[in-house]
Amino acid sequence: MKPALSSSTLAVERVGKVYPGEVPTRALNGVSFAVAPGEFVAIVGASGSGKTSLLNLLGLLDSATEGTIHLNGVDVTNLTPGEAVRLRRDMLGFIFQFHYLLPEFSALENALMPCRLAGEGQVARQEPGMLALFDRVGLAGKLNKRPHQLSGGEQQRVAILRALANDPLFILADEPTGNLDSANANEIFTLLRNITREMERTVIMVTHDHELAAKADRVITLRDGRIESDRPASALAHCS
Ligand SMILES: Nc1ncnc2c1ncn2[C@@H]1O[C@H](COP(=O)(O)OP(=O)(O)O)[C@@H](O)[C@H]1O
Ligand SMILES: [Mg+2]
Repeated sequence: MKPALSSSTLAVERVGKVYPGEVPTRALNGVSFAVAPGEFVAIVGASGSGKTSLLNLLGLLDSATEGTIHLNGVDVTNLTPGEAVRLRRDMLGFIFQFHYLLPEFSALENALMPCRLAGEGQVARQEPGMLALFDRVGLAGKLNKRPHQLSGGEQQRVAILRALANDPLFILADEPTGNLDSANANEIFTLLRNITREMERTVIMVTHDHELAAKADRVITLRDGRIESDRPASALAHCS
């Protein structure tokens, strides 16, 4: 059973990340914020400011050096690899700059791939909802196309559907429109925004695009591994 959406918060407390090495690199330093259920948060900041490091921690792909992270009330700071895999599968959806669709599978098979990893029963359970999502994003006629038969924008729409496949509470997106022209970027962003709003999912999206960030609910700006500002997106127009 999935817990109620109302309790699906994400909380980051005094998180730090140091990459070891001959000269250790501090990528994050004392980062704290909490995200409410259904919120759409944009993370912006210069290259090297720690955006991807933060997303990797939220995505349970790496572990923090200091501090704690709670996802939906679960302390994910010190998970075993097996626990991380399970929580990632059950709670998180990922969208990347490049779609990483598998060329030998159809659009529908690609979108259902996270379900397949959870077992054939999950594919059967989620397929009707996925077919409705293909319809929702205007790809009902492209279910059986291979990735190379789709346009860049269509490929990224399939990647969005794949992120939604297991009905995750949190969607993590790293520059999801970074590889698209601005018209397509706007369209994909709007789609992600509207679908996740309808489904009441929480989104954390890293972007370089300040125009898109301004359409989020809230914008967190990182600088040298720290939070420089954390504001409602509506406040951005007043302080450039
Ligand atoms: N795997 C790694 N090993 C060592 N240093 C890293 C690694 N990943 C990122 N860094 C360093 O951490 C800092 C933050 O990087 P990153 O989180 O990728 O920033 P952003 O996504 O904002 O460009 C940078 O100085 C970067 O060089
Ligand atoms: Mg990055």
